[in-house]
Formats: sequence, structure tokens, C-alpha cells
Amino acid sequence: MAHFTKPEAGSWTEQYPELGTAPVSYEDSISPAYYEVEREAIFKHSWLNVGRVEQLPRKGSYFTKEIDAARTSVVIVRGTDDEVRAFHNICRHRGNKLVWTDYPTEEVEGTCRQFTCKYHGWRYDLEGALTFVQQESEFFDLDKSELGLVPVQCEVWEGFIFVHLDPDNTESAASYLGEMAAGLEGYPFGEMTAVYKYRADVGANWKLFIDAFAEFYHAPVLHAKQAVADESTKLQGYGYEALAYGLDGPHGMVSSWGGMSPPKDLDMVKPIERVLRSGLFGPWDKPIDIPVLPPSLNPARHRAWGTDSFVFFPNFMVLVWEPNWYLTYHYWPTAYNRHTFEGTLYFVPPKNATERLRQELAAVTFKEYALQDGNTLEATQRSIESRAVTAFPLNDQEILLRHLHKTARDKVAEFQAKSGTPVQISAAS
Ligand code: FES
Ligand SMILES: [Fe+2]
Repeated sequence: MAHFTKPEAGSWTEQYPELGTAPVSYEDSISPAYYEVEREAIFKHSWLNVGRVEQLPRKGSYFTKEIDAARTSVVIVRGTDDEVRAFHNICRHRGNKLVWTDYPTEEVEGTCRQFTCKYHGWRYDLEGALTFVQQESEFFDLDKSELGLVPVQCEVWEGFIFVHLDPDNTESAASYLGEMAAGLEGYPFGEMTAVYKYRADVGANWKLFIDAFAEFYHAPVLHAKQAVADESTKLQGYGYEALAYGLDGPHGMVSSWGGMSPPKDLDMVKPIERVLRSGLFGPWDKPIDIPVLPPSLNPARHRAWGTDSFVFFPNFMVLVWEPNWYLTYHYWPTAYNRHTFEGTLYFVPPKNATERLRQELAAVTFKEYALQDGNTLEATQRSIESRAVTAFPLNDQEILLRHLHKTARDKVAEFQAKSGTPVQISAAS
């Protein structure tokens, strides 16, 4: 159960005795063998967000998602019945990748009436049924009805499309996402359809970048140069303390103060922010009114609330900002020490050029911050791989990191116990 209130005396972390307070091992981010178990235990056994329904605007709209960690590519498509479905992106004839354009590792999107394999021309309809086999009479006992695309469990929650790669999974996406997510239901995600997207190949374990976005302890230091000089000195003096933290099963959230949209003192921010009335916290003037925030947002009901960051295990984050916009992060592992990062910003579509520029400024400011965050990651990865230091003290503002690494370790241990796989790695304490 989530605790959104810090006890009078004591810490956020100590409200969850199972987390402990001891230094944490980062062996889980530097061991190739451990990553191989994570691929099975975590990425093949969790609901994974692959996108939004707005990416499938009409019947026949599709996009592909490379899920290297789970060793597959998935095609997500809106059928003629308007249902959103997912399939493994593989032809039933001889295993060619079914939907791709020039490079088999690149994701693609589009609209079609059917999927046609490039190799020998087998065709599948939007519901995955095999509808055409070239020279069908040459085959032996071929039953087309048995050779449809291999389905992947797919569910939509609040417009977010999730897939689950274990065909035996019995838990719905909504139940997996839990109460904290239920407390976001009703937020007008579907009205925020102006999208700005960044993607980066990062030389660090996937969990390290979540770590960087799941605490703001670093913000006054690492991002010091983003504020004007006087302000930066002040911020470093104050340090950082969140308004609230919440943990709910494998998921967590941090609620953070804001006050930058607009700032109390306009001299705090850069001239372009003053001129455009926009910045990291988004355009200062709200595009729509949301009279009552869903209960998981600003759980402390604090006047200075700025943004809430939700970490949905394993690799999906949603950040909702006070001036009524949101962004998502995805971290797609490609190796124990690499992942593809995606940052996507969602705004209510701009009504004029000024609003568009305000969104652009928020998007480029976000990119600048993200580059600063990302900049530490490859250095951290290289350093921790030295194993010169093996346990790291995490403070109370780093509770979500402690929780993330513990959740990942628990999933790995649970999977190994169930599958009888011998423990091949030294489990982090
Ligand atoms: S592999 Fe697809 S038609 Fe042969
Ligand atoms: Fe940061």
C-alpha cells in the first residue's frame, strides 16, 4: 500500500521495512549473466507499454516495436473491428520478419489493408488470419486456419497500449498496474496529442537511467547551470526534498514541487523563458482546465506542486506536469550495458504559432536536462564495472531506486525458483 505521508519522525524508506536501509549492490547492472535472466524473468513476464492508441488512428493503422530484451518484434494493429491487437512480427512460412521496410532492426508504422510477407507473398489480414498462400496446392496438408500470426496479449489502459509476452499470463494490465495507476484514471491523456519524441542509444544498464529520473536529489547539482547563477547557488543550498513518495507493488512514484510555471520571480529564469512564457515545466498558461485532479496526482495536495513521476515496472515512466501536459520515458534494454531510451512529450495541440513555440521551448529544455542526466550514465556504467566499489549508500530521497533494484532482484529470484534455474549470479543484497 502506498504511503503518501511522511511520518512525523522517521523516513520514507523506513515505512517499507522490506527495503532495508543498507548500501545497495549494483551487480544487477554490470553482470551479463544477470541480464540474461532479467530478459526472461522481467521482460517476458511483465506488461510492457509499447505506445498510445493515437498512434493507431484508423482501421489498418499499425506500428512495430522491437523488444530486444524479450527477443522479439511485435506488430500492433487496429483491426477492421477497431480492436487493438498485437502479434509476433514473424511470418508463419519460413520465419521472415513480416512488417519492416529497409532495415530489419528499425521500427516502422503505417496503414494497410493486410500484411504481405516480402519473401514469398503470404498474406495476413488485420486480425492475424492467414488469407493467401502463394501456390497453395504445392504444400502438404496445409491448413491456413492453423497458420495465423502468433498473438501477443494486448490491453489498452487509459489509451496506453500494453503487451505481455507470456501467453500463460492471467493478470490484466489494469490489475498489474495497480491502485496507484487506477488513481490516474480520468486524466485527459487522450486530449494531449501534440507529440515531441526523442530517442537515444545509451551505453548504460536500463535501470541506471531510471535511477537518474527517479530521484531529484541530483537536480540542484547536476542541473545547476540551468538556473540563473544566483538562483543556482540558492538551490544548491536548499538541496531537494520531495513532496511525497508512494510505492505500490512493483511500481512507485515521487511527487515534486514546481513553481516554475510561471516562477515567482521572473528573474529566476532565462530571457527566452520570460518572452515565451514556457520552460522545463511546460508552457505557463494552461491549455485546458482540469477542475479536479485524479487522486494519485499531487497526493500531498501541496500548493507548490509541479510534477509527479510514476515508475511503472519494469521500464515505463509517466510524468504529469502541473500546467496540464505529460511525458513518458521508456528504457528498452539491448545489452547488459546498453539500452534505447525514449522520451516523449504530449501536449494539447497548439492553437497558434505562439503556442507551438512554447511547446518547442519546453521540448528543447527537456532535451537539455535529459542530456545532462544521460551524460553521467556511461561514466557510471564504466566505473561500477570496475567493481572497485560494490555497495552504494542510497538516501531517503533515493527510495525509488532502492525499490526498483529490489523489485528487479525479486522478480529474478522468483523466476529462478519457479523455473528451477540455478542461481548463476551473485544476488545483490
Ligand atoms: S517467409 Fe513469409 S512467405 Fe515465405
Ligand atoms: Fe535530472
